[in-house]
Amino acid sequence: MDWGMKNRISKLIRPDTGRAVWLAVDHGYFLGPVSKLEQPKKTIEPLLPYSDALMLTRGVLRNCIDANIDTPVILRVSGGNSIVGKDLSNEGITACMEEAIRLNVCAVALSVYIGTAHEHQTLINLSRLIDEGQRYGIPVLAVTAVGKELEKRDARYLSLCCRICAELGAQLVKTYYCDNFEKVTKSCPIPVVIAGGPKLDTDMDAFKLAYDAIQEGAVGVDMGRNIWQSEFPVAKIKAIRAIVHENASVKKASDLFSSLKKK
Ligand code: 5RP
Repeated sequence: MDWGMKNRISKLIRPDTGRAVWLAVDHGYFLGPVSKLEQPKKTIEPLLPYSDALMLTRGVLRNCIDANIDTPVILRVSGGNSIVGKDLSNEGITACMEEAIRLNVCAVALSVYIGTAHEHQTLINLSRLIDEGQRYGIPVLAVTAVGKELEKRDARYLSLCCRICAELGAQLVKTYYCDNFEKVTKSCPIPVVIAGGPKLDTDMDAFKLAYDAIQEGAVGVDMGRNIWQSEFPVAKIKAIRAIVHENASVKKASDLFSSLKKK
């Protein structure tokens, strides 16, 4: 791997722990003003000091984020669909590599929809983006999207998706946690991070999700709604950080969360 690529990845995955807590706030690209992200700046700013990277679109980056931040950026560069449209899988590339370099990002992110009508199109999008990324030293985060079919989140399907992304040359992959998650991480030769998915019923559920994913081989989380839709988002991300970077147990994270909530 070339120096520039390695250097960017070292800003995303902490070299001292080998782990990462990324804040995902790209949801508006197909969901519009999703609950608690109506005013991105207000939601994101308090969480920045606790995020190892920020995953978002160029529109939110330019309009809502100060250019003097230290937090590395993962730029979402796929889209072209919406939650009210016909098919969430029909994505193209929405920002070019020149734009990613202009925005000084540490990685670009693109969704693939394996097993859908647009499998081929989104895998070719990924391959083209990886070629461009290789040319300029920009890592590609492949996102194994499931669209509205959340029930697809099982180890057989997700291991197939992650492995295909790695085979096509992605440097990083984001997927969902599932039962038998080790099957996904063990058969994927690139670092795997998990999405949080829709907000879980309890804070404890989110801590358990992060803990189990880390124990089963994920290098970290790229979490959104379970952090910023929480009543106490800063306490929540701090507790998640303890799990990811300090190997805290679910109980320890939950105790930390309870004590931080009171402050
Ligand atoms: C959508 C995404 C989101 O960034 C991802 O789903 C993470 O956010 P959440 O934890 O809210 O699921 O990639 O395709």
